[in-house]
Amino acid sequence: MTTLPTVLVTHTLPDGWLELLQDHCRLIIGPPDANEFSSDLVAHLGEAEGIYSLLTIQISAETLSKAPRLRVISNMAVGFDNIDVAACTRRGIPVGHTPGVLTDGTADLTMAILLAAARRLLEANRDAREGRWTTWSPTGWLGADLHGAILGIVGMGKIGQAVARRAHGFGLRIVYCDSVRRPEVEKDLHASWLNFNDLLQKSDFVCLHVPLNPDTYQLMNADSLKKMKKTAILINTSRGPVVDTLALIQALQENWICGAALDVTDPEPLPLNHPLFELDNCLVVPHIGSATWNTRRRMAELACENLLAGLEGKHLLYTANPEVYRD
Ligand code: GLV
Repeated sequence: MTTLPTVLVTHTLPDGWLELLQDHCRLIIGPPDANEFSSDLVAHLGEAEGIYSLLTIQISAETLSKAPRLRVISNMAVGFDNIDVAACTRRGIPVGHTPGVLTDGTADLTMAILLAAARRLLEANRDAREGRWTTWSPTGWLGADLHGAILGIVGMGKIGQAVARRAHGFGLRIVYCDSVRRPEVEKDLHASWLNFNDLLQKSDFVCLHVPLNPDTYQLMNADSLKKMKKTAILINTSRGPVVDTLALIQALQENWICGAALDVTDPEPLPLNHPLFELDNCLVVPHIGSATWNTRRRMAELACENLLAGLEGKHLLYTANPEVYRD
């Protein structure tokens, strides 16, 4: 009788989401919500041949050193900045992730928070509920137009492009910066490539769609925030540390920019007494870019598919470190 490979799943997921793994692995499953490996799982690292992780779990070189049998990590997220990918590569361990399936969900959420910030929906909703809607006021809750405004997209990958398509439908003019030019986006959506500084200076809305890595860490800092228009809104649905939080607080308090809409923050979660929560011109939602039932289920399945491929010694469908396959 062959023994099934041991796989640590860092979180309990809804029924059925791990179905693909059920008959192929011995699953050891962590708690429903976790920001670190539970002690139960740590005790099994020595046997683990696979790890199925969520983005809140840091997988460091130290963790890897406790898992000598590990052959694959599958992250149920498009981002993989929670994992020491270089250390995995040194060990020849492929790291799976889930691009594509969350593109539309994340782009929808980006537009939702952009619109909410532009039209001050949270303040308007709160004022309506709390008795401050006393009349139709000609100057009440005035916000910013989308049509005719310029949207600057930083990072024109899959999600950036999906946002651009939606924004084009709202009549926004698209500018973008990226390390590569996207001729098809430029043609189809009349988008223009700009360098980062020009994009900041020209845009009415700046959306961040870059992965977190040493090049993008605190890309939005005091210098870059000061280059934005005073009337502009910053939208971040990428990773919190792409923005320098202290600089953003100052920018919002001192009106260097008009507002921010954040799906991601640094730190995450934000403590209740955090200064960003004091600011009316800052909308914060709790990292819900991909939070639709269909999207999350598809992410879970794709993460299962990546994991199984790794256990079978096949190439993963999506690998953060494809160099593990080079001789
Ligand atoms: C979400 O942030 C993801 O990386 O999937």
